[in-house]
Amino acid sequence: MAESAYIHIPFCAHKCDFCDFAAFAGLDDLALEYCQVVAAEIKERNRSKPNAAPLRTLFYGGGTPGYIAPSTLKVVHDAVREEIGLIDGAEVTLETTPKSVTAEKAEQWLSMGINRISIGVESMQDHELQAMGREHKREECIAGINAARLGGYENIAFDLMYGLPEQTLESWQETLESLLALKPKHLSAYGLTIAQNSPLLLRYPKDSPSYPNEDTFVQMYETLVSTCAAYGLEQYEIANFAIPGYESRHNLTYWRNHPYLAFGVSAHRYVDGVRSSNFRSLKHYMRDYLGDETREEIDHLLRMKEGIMLGLRLRKGIDLEEFTRTYNVNIEERYAQQLHELSAGNFIELEGKFLRLSQKGVLVSNTVLTEFI
Ligand SMILES: C[S@@+](CC[C@H](N)C(=O)[O-])C[C@H]1O[C@@H](n2cnc3c(N)ncnc32)[C@H](O)[C@@H]1O
Ligand code: SF4
Repeated sequence: MAESAYIHIPFCAHKCDFCDFAAFAGLDDLALEYCQVVAAEIKERNRSKPNAAPLRTLFYGGGTPGYIAPSTLKVVHDAVREEIGLIDGAEVTLETTPKSVTAEKAEQWLSMGINRISIGVESMQDHELQAMGREHKREECIAGINAARLGGYENIAFDLMYGLPEQTLESWQETLESLLALKPKHLSAYGLTIAQNSPLLLRYPKDSPSYPNEDTFVQMYETLVSTCAAYGLEQYEIANFAIPGYESRHNLTYWRNHPYLAFGVSAHRYVDGVRSSNFRSLKHYMRDYLGDETREEIDHLLRMKEGIMLGLRLRKGIDLEEFTRTYNVNIEERYAQQLHELSAGNFIELEGKFLRLSQKGVLVSNTVLTEFI
């Protein structure tokens, strides 16, 4: 039974040039109606399948859930509380841009029970922020973080990106140092991925020398890992770091291959052995909020393979005993040949009952993981 839920709030103050999410600027007038639709979706999905467990984790992602009025977001939050419920001490996260945070809003989020906020800082260099089409500057990142603290938050996570146009190894190091000095509890850092037709490509085509080259990109990742360690943030997933005890419980649900509910435009769920997603078009979703844009039955073999791919993202790795109990498969027997080759190449290591990527394997994780497909 799912004990986690993702809710997508697609409104943004500004559409960033690199962003391929269902995120829309200039549609603020629709926010209340949208939240009423999401509340209806929660009600109807839950009533057609009662007994959903009270949630252990709830994640408001986007888009920028922090951008809309807290009283509007509360329409959705009340529906979650009334229809599904939250356990005492549930982790409730809200994503926001730095510019959308004010101390007053933070107080309202806190009083609603949102106890963790995730701020999209992306870079601490003004020229990089401008190059990638962000709306804020370094000073506004700092102001947003201070406002969140003033409003009562201590559980604050930051998002960063690397591989950006105009970014150098030195500027990345400076971004990391200056941000980590602000003592986040959690940091996620992803390499920039550029979707086809991304407006960013008009200014910075894929072959532009403004992007860091492949070697620099790898060095950026190594710098990320070593700088986080120096500031006491433990790497617990390929791209995620936390002060021990502050790991994202919600994202751990995904990496442990556990089921989760999802509501809102473009939201993806994994329930009762089926992965499905809502419509990505806002208009289409609001007209047909129970319709599927995609739907895939996950049979036992696929579930087991996904369990490996997701589990190896965790730095702790896969607990082989638990894996056998869950999937009824002994990885060491089933993948003997692959494991032999990967450990001979030093890409994978077995420590006690845990199978994990080595530091070398992490750098080429996509290639290593395909061995298990
Ligand atoms: C929904 S956004 C976070 C909240 C808020 N909308 C913001 O941008 O600050 C989620 C995160 O995904 C990451 N992200 C978005 N587009 C990306 C891309 N094309 N490549 C890599 N990371 C991306 C960014 O780090 C971003 O903070
Ligand atoms: S603010 Fe966040 S969600 Fe909105 S367009 Fe920018 S990156 Fe995408």
